[in-house]
Amino acid sequence: MKLYEIYFSPTGGTKKAADILAEAWMEESGQTVRIDLITDKRCPSEYQFEAEDICIMAVPAYGGRVPRPALDKLRQMKGNGAKAILMAVYGNRAIDDTMLELKDILCEAGFVSVAGISAVAEHSIVREFAAGRPDEEDREELCGFVKAIKTKLESGGKSAADIPGNRPYREFGGVGMIPKANDYCNECGICACNCPVQAISKDNLKGADESKCISCMRCIAVCPKRARLIDGAMVEGTRAKIGKFCAERKNNELFL
Ligand SMILES: Cc1cc2nc3c(=O)[nH]c(=O)nc-3n(C[C@H](O)[C@H](O)[C@H](O)COP(=O)(O)O)c2cc1C
Repeated sequence: MKLYEIYFSPTGGTKKAADILAEAWMEESGQTVRIDLITDKRCPSEYQFEAEDICIMAVPAYGGRVPRPALDKLRQMKGNGAKAILMAVYGNRAIDDTMLELKDILCEAGFVSVAGISAVAEHSIVREFAAGRPDEEDREELCGFVKAIKTKLESGGKSAADIPGNRPYREFGGVGMIPKANDYCNECGICACNCPVQAISKDNLKGADESKCISCMRCIAVCPKRARLIDGAMVEGTRAKIGKFCAERKNNELFL
């Protein structure tokens, strides 16, 4: 058995939640194979899994859906019956159909989704929502989920988990927030190298191709000069629109 931690995490929140899960699974012994779907240069079809393998599959919720670049890579993998633990990480609003879409795509790729977890992490657009999460309380909750999943598997439970969501999935056409560089930008190019969809051209390092940008906020997160920003009025608009859904702390949830 190998434990794989496979994640798409533009600003690090999804990875934080997946790391907690992987560490709890391995209980400080054994190795985890980490696959970062943004930086890994291998073709996803090169990954071949075995039925004994456990794959933590972690993605953020974008408008209640799986981000398109993550979907495109996951659908090329060869599950060969490996067990997937689905993780939909969200900014304290809702996951909507993220986990169901993830389950469906992984089923087509040959994985069996034995469990699903929704986990809360800091909202990557409006950072005060779920600020600092996952925190210690989340860690405890997630570690408890690991025990419950292990119990299911050890007692022979290999059935596909009952995952929340609706088909057809929620419509999502993007949030339309394109980060732009300000005068602090010295055109170092770090944002261009880190963009998961190559939306920042080396010839125009202060701009971004609006047809490619997925508003993942990674360019803002990696900029050493804090020179990339989204329009303040747009962030304000999002805060006003979703604030009432994000105000109360939500718990992580386990689906078996
Ligand atoms: C484009 C976009 C759409 C998002 N949509 C949702 C959403 O539908 N529900 C929610 O609760 N959080 C939403 N979020 C917040 C992210 O799901 C959350 O912050 C997640 O932890 C980001 O993952 P990362 O830190 O790995 O990039 C969205 C964030 C972005 C950038």
